[in-house]
Amino acid sequence: MEEKVSGCKHVLMVPYPSQGHINPMLQFSKRLCSKGVRVTMLTTIFISNSMHLQSSSLLGSVHLDFISDGYDEGGFAEAASVETYLSRMEEVGSKSLREFIKKQSSSDEGIDCVVYDPLVIWVLDVAKELGLMGAAFFTQMCAVNYIYYHVYHGLLKVPISSSLPISIEGLPLLHFKDAPPFVSDPAFYPAYFELVVKQFSNIHKADLLLVNSFYKLEDQVVDAMSKVCPVLTIGPTVPSFHLDKTIPNDRDNVLNLFELDSSPISWLKQKPAQSVIYVSFGSMVCFSSHQMEEIAFALIQTGFNFLWVIPDFHTKNLSEEMGKKIEACGRGLIVNWTPQLEVLSNDAVGCFFTHCGWNSTLEALCLGVPMVALPQWTDQPTNAKFVEDVWKVGIRMKEDENGIVRRDEIQSCIRVVMEKELGREMRINAKKWKDLAVEAVTQGGTSDHNINEFIKNLKKS
Ligand code: UDX
Repeated sequence: MEEKVSGCKHVLMVPYPSQGHINPMLQFSKRLCSKGVRVTMLTTIFISNSMHLQSSSLLGSVHLDFISDGYDEGGFAEAASVETYLSRMEEVGSKSLREFIKKQSSSDEGIDCVVYDPLVIWVLDVAKELGLMGAAFFTQMCAVNYIYYHVYHGLLKVPISSSLPISIEGLPLLHFKDAPPFVSDPAFYPAYFELVVKQFSNIHKADLLLVNSFYKLEDQVVDAMSKVCPVLTIGPTVPSFHLDKTIPNDRDNVLNLFELDSSPISWLKQKPAQSVIYVSFGSMVCFSSHQMEEIAFALIQTGFNFLWVIPDFHTKNLSEEMGKKIEACGRGLIVNWTPQLEVLSNDAVGCFFTHCGWNSTLEALCLGVPMVALPQWTDQPTNAKFVEDVWKVGIRMKEDENGIVRRDEIQSCIRVVMEKELGREMRINAKKWKDLAVEAVTQGGTSDHNINEFIKNLKKS
């Protein structure tokens, strides 16, 4: 039996408004609801409008509500620059959040605690100003947050050296290519650099720090970081259905910001076990036409079946000619957006060709699927380093001198994972991580214990 909270507490979840940050918050919300907590997830009016959602609607057990971030018509795309978006979001978002919380507290659905993504640090300031408990929820891996912690405290000088690897307690030695580009090349990403480093500027005001990871996956990092900045691992936030099948599949209760196509599920059912390469680069990565062509050629040449997610913002970079070649080969399916967890759970999938976004990485690990990694930016290079060298569940592709990963390299990495002994070992390792993930989230596991700790703190608020 799950431990239930008596006297229902109300948690407000405030994600950074993008797919890769909403997903883990939503899944965490569902976990809290399953333990008797009332949860409202607050995203932007732009998201609500583009998805035709109603205020105060329910997504499974989670309440949804919306506030303005100053870009109700066009979202992020409406802003002139990243800097403009972030500063207006803070200005308008703080005001709308304050009003929302005050309105709630005048009803019988007052908020007890605000859980926020530290990429929107101003949320904590508003929560504290209104006398509420505030918990940070880092949606990326602990190691990456610990790197940013070092930069914020001046323990790691940026830009990092291109010849000397970084040494941080609990992490493997990180070479230039393994570090988040925000620290290897901060001048190229000034707004994002400030965003990730500033996460730590008010963290001392947070009552708890939660991370979307599980203890055995990052034990050394969690221990090292906890000496200076105690964190509780509460992940993976992969839905229980996919992990241990004890909770019914609630595939409809997800917030897909892209139009979903579920047809690949029946397509996969007709394919032999481990015969399909699943290709997806998340919700933000956009490759050049040249890189897309190399990927397409490689996929065709491998001779394997492949399912390739190309969201609508990215399709223009695959030429019509390549699209026809893919169709003619008869083994490839291109879709706009899939139910990724269901795809990764399908026995037909033999490997995941991924950008190593943290959600995709965790999902592959927890579903026992080995990876072929093509990281691009933000946390992805560091995630890929762990995938290849620490967890040993994948292989990272190498770029040529022009920054392009050539078709031969892609083909050869895919063959290693799909056909070679090393790939078989990766699959065995992935199965081990899958079992450890299940152990962490089932009753008595480390993440389950930490979620209960969070709830105990809630009761005190
Ligand atoms: C972004 C960053 O790029 C990533 O590095 C960071 O860790 C989180 O924010 P994104 O690029 O979208 O995220 O990648 P990822 O973290 O992998 O998240 C994508 C999510 O979309 C996953 O939960 C995945 O299951 C889901 N997805 C993807 C689908 O549901 N269907 C798809 O077709 C593709």
